[in-house]
Amino acid sequence: MTKTKIAVFVSGGGTNLQALLDAQAAGKLHSGRIVLVVSSQPGAYALTRAEKAGVPTVVCSRKELGSQEAFEAAILEALDRAGAEMIVLAGFMSILSKSFTDRYPERILNVHPALIPSFCGKGYYGLRVHEEALKRGVKVTGATVHFVNEIPDGGRIIAQKPVMVEDGDTPEVLQRRVMEQAEWIILPQAAEMVAADIARRKEHD
Ligand code: GAR
Repeated sequence: MTKTKIAVFVSGGGTNLQALLDAQAAGKLHSGRIVLVVSSQPGAYALTRAEKAGVPTVVCSRKELGSQEAFEAAILEALDRAGAEMIVLAGFMSILSKSFTDRYPERILNVHPALIPSFCGKGYYGLRVHEEALKRGVKVTGATVHFVNEIPDGGRIIAQKPVMVEDGDTPEVLQRRVMEQAEWIILPQAAEMVAADIARRKEHD
């Protein structure tokens, strides 16, 4: 079966990208191949991780490109050039418009650091999510992998994993636990599942 070509979108440290690269190296992401890393931030450490793994990178900064249209056009061009068939948002902090997400129906995945529908939607990203979870006093949080549509964190849920909140947690400590115990596990698993699905559908076409 031909592998599904995957593009990973990042904006920061890229630990979730690393989990995907490690899964690929370990043969756990065998239905797909990461062919491109797109960063919305020129200095993102995720770019270094991609380079170390020999994966081509491209930077598309909304600020530098001046508009949402130019930003998305630049991304689409890079995706077309790489032949990407599926997209994984791994700590990607820019919003994608409906016209973009409509091009990849149930082919864009995102990892969110909470159990959707808690602590999600506009404004809930990165450390903010954990700050709000601690403020609300929840005892269980976790991570969600879902398909991406035009509604922030609104697409169909693919996988979730709960993580316990512990006494004395800071947002940083909780963020790390959610990554280790949930995100880095369910994101590669979900990516493999969707890549396998796309590869199978190609065979039948
Ligand atoms: C991760 O916790 C990811 O779930 C979150 O940002 C972090 C990125 O870390 N994403 C969002 O909040 C998206 N709404 P990473 O760059 O080390 O993977």
